[in-house]
Parts: sequence; C-alpha cells; structure tokens
Amino acid sequence: MSGHTSSYVPTSRWGKWWDERLPVARLMHGSFVDFPTPRNLNYLWTFGGILSFCLVAQIVTGVILAMHYQPSAAEAFNSIESIRRDVNYGWMIRNFHSVGASMFFLAVYIHMFRGFYYGSYKAPREVLWILGVVILLVMMATAFMGYTLPWGQMSFWGVTVITNLFSALDTIYNGLGTAIVEWLWGGYSVSGVTLNRFYSLHYLLPFVLTGVVVLHIWALHTAGQNNPTGLDIREPSDSVPMHPYATSKDAVGLFAFLILFAWFVFFVPDYLGHPDNYVVANPLVTPPHIVPEWYFLPFYAILRAFTSSFLGIPLGQYAKLCGVVAMFSAVLITAFSPWLDTSRVRSAKYRPIFKWFFWFFAFTCVALGYLGSKPAEGVYVTWAQIFTVCYFLYFLVVMPIVGLLETPKKLPRSITEAVLGRNGAALPSGATAAPQAR
Ligand code: HEM
Repeated sequence: MSGHTSSYVPTSRWGKWWDERLPVARLMHGSFVDFPTPRNLNYLWTFGGILSFCLVAQIVTGVILAMHYQPSAAEAFNSIESIRRDVNYGWMIRNFHSVGASMFFLAVYIHMFRGFYYGSYKAPREVLWILGVVILLVMMATAFMGYTLPWGQMSFWGVTVITNLFSALDTIYNGLGTAIVEWLWGGYSVSGVTLNRFYSLHYLLPFVLTGVVVLHIWALHTAGQNNPTGLDIREPSDSVPMHPYATSKDAVGLFAFLILFAWFVFFVPDYLGHPDNYVVANPLVTPPHIVPEWYFLPFYAILRAFTSSFLGIPLGQYAKLCGVVAMFSAVLITAFSPWLDTSRVRSAKYRPIFKWFFWFFAFTCVALGYLGSKPAEGVYVTWAQIFTVCYFLYFLVVMPIVGLLETPKKLPRSITEAVLGRNGAALPSGATAAPQAR
C-alpha cells in the first residue's frame, strides 16, 4: 500500500509462513508502524484516525439497527421507537448512530479545513484530495438517505424538497426534470417505495465509502503526509516512525473526541435533531419551516439564495436551476483547489495575506450555515446571496490571485529546523539530534 519499504521481520515460523504467502502483516507494518511520519504533526492530524473510527462505528451500529428496523411507510416510524424502547440497549445504539452522523461530519469538516489551511491539497496530494471530495459526496448521499428512514415529518418533507430539485431541469428540457424526480421516487410522490429504495442505498453506500477511504489512505501513503510547515521530509531527522509517535497522539485525540461524542449520546441525544422528526410523516401537513440537518445548512443557504432576483440580477424561471447548480458546484469546486491555488508555499502559516482570507472563508461557511437555518425571506436572503458570492470568490479569485501577489514569509530549511531551531538549539544540552526514521 505504500511507496515506503516495510522493515517487517516475522518473528515466528507461523508469521514467516504467512509472509511468504500473503504478506498482510508486512503491509500493515509498513503502512502503520514504521511509516515515516513528519515529527511536527499537531492534533489536527488526528482527525483522519477519528474519521476512520466514525466510519467503523456507523457501520457497526447501522448493521445492528437494520436487524430491527422496518423499511415501510406503515412501520418505519414505530420501529425506530420500538428500537429505542424495547430492544436491549437499542436506545444507545440508535443514539450512537444518529449522533454519530453529526460527529462524522464535524470531524470531516475539521479535517478538510485543516487541509485548506496547511495546503494539503497541493502537489503531490491532488488525487488524495479529490478522493476526499468523493468521500464527502458519498457521505452526503448516505446521510441524506439515512435521514429519510425514521419517516418523521422532517424526513418526509426534506426528501420531498431535495428530490424535487431535479425538476429544475425542466427549464432546460421540458419533462426531463419531472421524469428524473418520478424515477427517484418510484411513483408520483414520495412514498413507502421511495423509503424502501433509500434504505437499500443507505445500507450499500457505506461500503462504497469504505472502498474510497482505502484508496484515500493508499494515496496518502504514496504521497506521504503533509505537516504544519508544508515542507517535504528531506532529512531522516524530519520524520519519526508512525508507531508509537503518531498512533499515541491519535489515541489521545480520539479519546478527547469520544468525550464530546459520549456527552451527546448520553445527555442530549436529540439536541442536534429536529423536534418535527418525532411526529410521524404526514403527506397532508407541511411543517412551517423545512430545514435539513446542521451539516447541510451552508449548502442549503446557497441553494435558497437564488430567488427571482440575485443581488439585483433578475433570474426569473431559472432561479431554481441556478440554486441547484450553485449548491452542487459549492462542493465540486473544492476538488479544483490544487489547481486554483497558485502559491508555491503550502502552509498558510507562512502566507500572511492568504491566512486572513482563509479565516474569512471559514467565517463565510459558518455564516451560510446560520442563514440556512433561517427562513428564506427578507434580510436573510440578501445576506445568503452576499456570502454565496464570498464563498465562490475564495476559490475563483482569492486562491489564484493571492498566490501570485503575496510574498510568503521565510520558510525554515527543514521540518527539523522548524521544530528544534537552527543547529537543534531547542534541544536540552547532551541530547541527541532526533529519533531516526527506520
Ligand atoms: C470517511 C472520511 C475520511 C477518512 C476516514 C479519512 C482518512 C484520512 C486519514 C487516516 C488521513 C491521515 C491522517 C490525517 O492526516 O489526519 C487522511 C489524510 C488526508 N485527508 Fe482524509 N479522510 C476522510 C475524508 C477526507 C475528506 C472529505 C477530505 C477532503 C476533501 C480529505 C483530505 C485529506 C488530505 C488532503 C489528507 C492529507 C493530509 C496531510 O497529510 O496533511 N479526507 N485522511
């Protein structure tokens, strides 16, 4: 799995027997034990491991839930209640899975913003980054379909609104959008048929996700890890073996993350959900305010920013189509970051101007999230339009232009120098320079 050669030596006859036939232990050792890891990784680099944990936790809890869940319009809602009340520890498994979706997105957003800040998308990690964007898309599809399954009011109306978006294609070719929507629904409205197919795909997609994650980690081990300086590993003292240095840090990061996770699961399991989803789906009653889960809110704000007029530009019948295109583009544009960012320097630590734009971009995403939770009217729409423009300007103007105009700060000569100072000055007297990567 990696470009690095494993130093694995089987210690038993049994180990040697396997190593000559199926060297899985050698592969694991080379990838996760003696793999050269930059010596200066901070706690933001523990989120890859945290995400791997979240993926496994979602699959394990999901498989158990599926043993008790009934994917039909008549029984879905009650089966979730029965899992919470009647199944042994069902409440815990269900809370773990529903809170787990939020924690998964929290971790993935931190992981992505870490990549944006330290320029982890830049060469040679372009494929690694694009695989990350594919992961995000698959996660979004999985979460969207999963939210339909409890068959509450918000499940039903959320799926109605979002699948209906495809009808915007009718403005390009009459009947095309409606045909797609009916094909997705499996009928002329959202029904038990839709629920059943979403359940099937919700079960399948996490395994597709696992496959893409394996490729993501393979690409990571081929290009090697970035680090806070953005410099490559040049000298042996720049790196340490992954185990125990990075693995123990990962364990601490995961433990801290689990405290937050457990707090939600055991104390406020419904805090991140919507009260309307505890009312059984009713196709005859529309909730006053349809909102998705928090992790979709920035994209939802972009979608709804396109009303009949966008910052004074009349959109007329194309408003909905523009909103749908902008919403999907907001995710897809991140995949082009490696080519949009023209700077020679990776890490924003050494990019005095870009750094401010990065923080403004982070603020823009939070602001869009807030606006997505508000009704699409009045001043909220105007602000959503302004921040939508800011969002795209970051990629289309800031990344290409700031990279050309900015003078980066002086970079350290190596990772070792960034950690220890020149000539290892930060070392206590008598200590040796640095642990060597094997
Ligand atoms: C299920 C979701 C994901 C899993 C399990 C996962 C896993 C990992 C792991 C284990 C690492 C190495 C440890 C670390 O750097 O934190 C990593 C690195 C990385 N991931 Fe992900 N990842 C996921 C999603 C994403 C997404 C959505 C993106 C971006 C769109 C992304 C971009 C990257 C990049 C650029 C690196 C290299 C970072 C560096 O070396 O600085 N990942 N990922």
